[in-house]
Amino acid sequence: MNLSGKTALLTGATGGIGCAIAQALAGEGLSLILTARDSEKLARLQQELMGKGHLTLSVDLTQATGREALLKLAADQGVDLLINNAGINQLALLEQVSDSDLAGIIETNLMVPMMLCRDFLPLLEGRPESAIINIGSILGSIGYAGSVTYCATKFGLRGFSEALRRELADRSVQVVYFAPRATATPFNSDKMVAMNEVLGTAVDSAEAVAKDFIKTLKQEKPHNRYLGWPEKFFVRVNGLLPKLVDKALYKQLPIIRRFAGR
Ligand SMILES: NC(=O)c1ccc[n+]([C@@H]2O[C@H](COP(=O)([O-])OP(=O)(O)OC[C@H]3O[C@@H](n4cnc5c(N)ncnc54)[C@H](OP(=O)(O)O)[C@@H]3O)[C@@H](O)[C@H]2O)c1
Repeated sequence: MNLSGKTALLTGATGGIGCAIAQALAGEGLSLILTARDSEKLARLQQELMGKGHLTLSVDLTQATGREALLKLAADQGVDLLINNAGINQLALLEQVSDSDLAGIIETNLMVPMMLCRDFLPLLEGRPESAIINIGSILGSIGYAGSVTYCATKFGLRGFSEALRRELADRSVQVVYFAPRATATPFNSDKMVAMNEVLGTAVDSAEAVAKDFIKTLKQEKPHNRYLGWPEKFFVRVNGLLPKLVDKALYKQLPIIRRFAGR
């Protein structure tokens, strides 16, 4: 995909991966519409970015009024790339997850991207070359103890992205599912960081993720992209031989219970 002269709308722009992607896209000369709830962080990011003319809008994406305001701004400006990056997680065993936590994670990670894809489609279809990029996770392909709700949303987002790509196969809008592995950002609580250290989980920098993101988008027909070795291999093994992965992850369970438990 040719990125030059394009406008991208990026959700979750103030987060670790969001900021790094915003910097990388601005460096490639794109115009950006950046959104998150925290207006001060958005204003700081806007000032730091290369290039002028980037816009910000502070909205809560779980609110219909917030999504409508974003759509209006995007319709006024024109948008070529919709990047669904905002997301939340929770390290917890299922028995500890409240109804409101469950609803909040599903709404933010799955329903919001689905609704934005639906609402932005007419805008994207009006552009000569456009794309939806849904930011998933390696945990959208490998079910992981202590992340049951998060996994459910990212598995859902991966399935949604695949189905939508096939539904739009005869149109000009490309659908990309981009799945990082663990990344050093405020997304991961202290407990999660400590657990990852004990488990020896590889952790990428947000800048490395953003670099790969740009490389992926520059491909002629960007598709699903899984980050990290051996994680991308485990994604394949889990698809073919899930019992093998059950066994391997069973060894981690006592550690996960220790950190995810009350
Ligand atoms: N970090 C990782 O280990 C990792 C690994 C794999 C995949 N990912 C995925 O990568 C994406 C970005 O993660 P990250 O690490 O950059 O997370 P992060 O640092 O916690 O940032 C999350 C972003 O989402 C925004 N956001 C959250 N709820 C929102 C809402 N209701 N309305 C509007 N904006 C909202 C936050 O801004 P406000 O709070 O200001 O709204 C923030 O900009 C997520 O989809 C995540 O699932 C992360």
